[in-house]
Amino acid sequence: MILVTGGAGFIGSNFVLDWLAEHDESVVSLDKLTYAGNLENLVTLKDDERHIFVRGDIGNTELVAKLLKQYRPRAIVNFAAESHVDRSIHGPEDFIQTNIVGTFHLLEAVRGYWSGLAGEEKTNFRFLHVSTDEVYGSLAKDDPAFSETHRYEPNSPYSASKAASDHLVRAYHHTYGLPVLTTNCSNNYGPYHFPEKLIPLMIVNALAGKPLPVYGDGQQIRDWLYVKDHCAAIRCVLEKGRVGEVYNIGGWNEKANLDIVHTVCDLLDELRPLSGKWEVGSGKDTHPTPHSSFPTYRSLITFVADRPGHDRRYAIDARKIEHELGWKPAETFETGIRKTVQWYLDNPGWVSNVQSGAYRQWVEKNYMGRA
Ligand code: NAD
Ligand code: DAU
Repeated sequence: MILVTGGAGFIGSNFVLDWLAEHDESVVSLDKLTYAGNLENLVTLKDDERHIFVRGDIGNTELVAKLLKQYRPRAIVNFAAESHVDRSIHGPEDFIQTNIVGTFHLLEAVRGYWSGLAGEEKTNFRFLHVSTDEVYGSLAKDDPAFSETHRYEPNSPYSASKAASDHLVRAYHHTYGLPVLTTNCSNNYGPYHFPEKLIPLMIVNALAGKPLPVYGDGQQIRDWLYVKDHCAAIRCVLEKGRVGEVYNIGGWNEKANLDIVHTVCDLLDELRPLSGKWEVGSGKDTHPTPHSSFPTYRSLITFVADRPGHDRRYAIDARKIEHELGWKPAETFETGIRKTVQWYLDNPGWVSNVQSGAYRQWVEKNYMGRA
């Protein structure tokens, strides 16, 4: 079996769901269930014996050591982190605590476990650390994309904390021989994305007729990858990656933020048009009714003050993973973003639970009395 940390978050839950759809190998998910962790993402696994959910902190060495002893995983995939740049600007402490101190404690527990293994169990063990392209800093317009040897220049408390965790993982390999792999991925999008991040925020705000806040001039560039392609890349690195190596993961999809917002608006115009169907007070639709004077969703776009220290451009050079391991994304941006918008349209219950905080009550309900 494998141990996945942060398995109730956006990428972690997609990873667990895809893993169990493709393998019969069991998964233990360890997640603290912060505001970003949502057991509703894993609800389809409720009666699946191959999945064990444990609520806990990666920084709790005793708990992690106990889980490792009990389940003897052959690999650990570490997604657990505080992940939102804006939150790291308003309050960096949780980022230092989980992303740096938490990763350190996790590594210590794993080192203790791995040292006690022998033979093939020890040789084949892997610790895969999931990281981000943000550790490389910001690119100018014509700079080449980030390769694995690009120097680290993190600019936000979030990226600095992820950079520190990458260095710890590297050090545990070089010093103790722990068989680690590190992946640095670009911006993900897709199902179960918490609506504090650009794409899901734009979708849910647009559907509610609320302003679509674009930071600064909206010309910052991100390199977008459909989350299931990221999950496939991680499976590929876990299976075939060379121990101690770093693999950059990206979809060759550089887009300016404003173009992303336009695309989301245009897809909503097509899939859930404002005109005709949504007359105020028609009573024919249970979705929130935007103000009837908005002709298209684009008219909701509002430019707002920029993010402090905002990185201008990220771009991933994904040639290493493509050439060495044979991974390629299955989705284009056009197919992936259509699936994503459709997923949010099809899952209004998930959206409103996440927004209302009702999913926390669901957790209480599901876990009370089970301890
Ligand atoms: P997320 O915020 O949606 O999920 C993080 C999960 O980790 C949540 O379920 C949360 O409850 C859990 N968690 C937080 N602190 C914990 C702790 N101390 N112990 C145990 N669990 C804890 O994040 P995400 O977007 O799914 O990102 C997952 C990982 O991928 C992160 O490490 C992030 O840095 C990295 N990453 C994200 C992106 C992206 O675009 N979202 C891109 C590249 C890399
Ligand atoms: O590059 C990988 C990283 O991508 C991950 O490591 C992070 O965990 C993930 O959150 C993401 O970071 P970003 O800061 O790029 O993502 P976010 O969705 O917050 O913002 C994307 C861009 O959109 C960024 O330039 C800021 C801008 N933005 C964001 C929000 C939330 C807006 O213009 N308006 C907004 O309301």
